[in-house]
Amino acid sequence: MIALFSLALFFFASSLHVEAQDERIKVYANRGDNITLPCRLEGLTNLFGNRIKWTKLEDDSTETDVLMSMGFHKKKYGNFEGRVYLLGADDNDATLVITNLDLKDYGTYRCEIINGLNDKTVEVDLELQGVVFPYSPRLGRYNFNFQNAEAACLEQDAVVASFEQLYEEWRSGLDWCNAGWLSDGTVQYPITKPREPCGGARTSAGLRNYGRRDKSNSRYDVFCFTASLKGRFYYLIQPKKLDYEEAVNACEKDGAEIAKVGHMYAAWKLLGYDRCDAGWLADGSVRYPISRPRKNCSPTEAAVRYVGFPDKKQKLYGVYCYKPQP
Ligand SMILES: *[C@@H]1O[C@H](CO)[C@@H](O)[C@H](O)[C@H]1NC(C)=O
Repeated sequence: MIALFSLALFFFASSLHVEAQDERIKVYANRGDNITLPCRLEGLTNLFGNRIKWTKLEDDSTETDVLMSMGFHKKKYGNFEGRVYLLGADDNDATLVITNLDLKDYGTYRCEIINGLNDKTVEVDLELQGVVFPYSPRLGRYNFNFQNAEAACLEQDAVVASFEQLYEEWRSGLDWCNAGWLSDGTVQYPITKPREPCGGARTSAGLRNYGRRDKSNSRYDVFCFTASLKGRFYYLIQPKKLDYEEAVNACEKDGAEIAKVGHMYAAWKLLGYDRCDAGWLADGSVRYPISRPRKNCSPTEAAVRYVGFPDKKQKLYGVYCYKPQP
């Protein structure tokens, strides 16, 4: 009897159609964090319970399912399996918990609560604290199609940056005159000091946009994004200069691995790491991070300095290591 009555009430309420409530929220986090994405319904609880659906809105306008809940029935999807759950503070709570936050978790999430009385949609922007850096391989500039670009960032402990992430980095001063892929499939580059070879001296500062490019056949550099480190990045003090192979072995002997480009950028930008010694990195490049500009060490600006991809046999450099957290 009660069930029948509430069923009637349910249809009555649906046919009246109560307005949907909409909200937008921003959440800031670090890699490895456990975070909550808030979403809750104010007002009447439907006796049948709420249907809850969490999706992630990707850069290329597709949606990825994250979690679905209907009564006791819950389903989690893809790389979120085992890492997400509903907080479930009460019957109207649809807050999502994501554990061990990953670089790829960055982005916009949508929560939909459907109960027929007062549906609700909440969009949550999840922002990771991190750094964007341009990347090109030993072969030189403009050698990556989109797939190569994704692989290259991954190899540097990073992901392909989004437009928003590059924009943020531009606002904090990134100026780079080579075009690179972004995660939405566009190719752009950030200019803070307009000049002739970089889109014109009389243009305004900003992101120069080549638009969407053919992901298989167009070749550019890439902008990678990485976030705070869970392990320790350091310069390994050695009695003499090393070639590449000796550098790899020296880190191993120290219980670590040779550091990746992403590790150096994260340590430099987020921890203020500063060292005026050129050192090998895993990709075979040689760089050094300067956060306090001074004579002979990047005198005009704080930057990760790029020496190049030298011959791996040259015994001319030190080495930077990375020790992952156990
Ligand atoms: C995050 O949650 C997981 C699983 O609930 C737990 O094992 C881990 O210790 C938590 N991590 C942090 C940083 O709180």
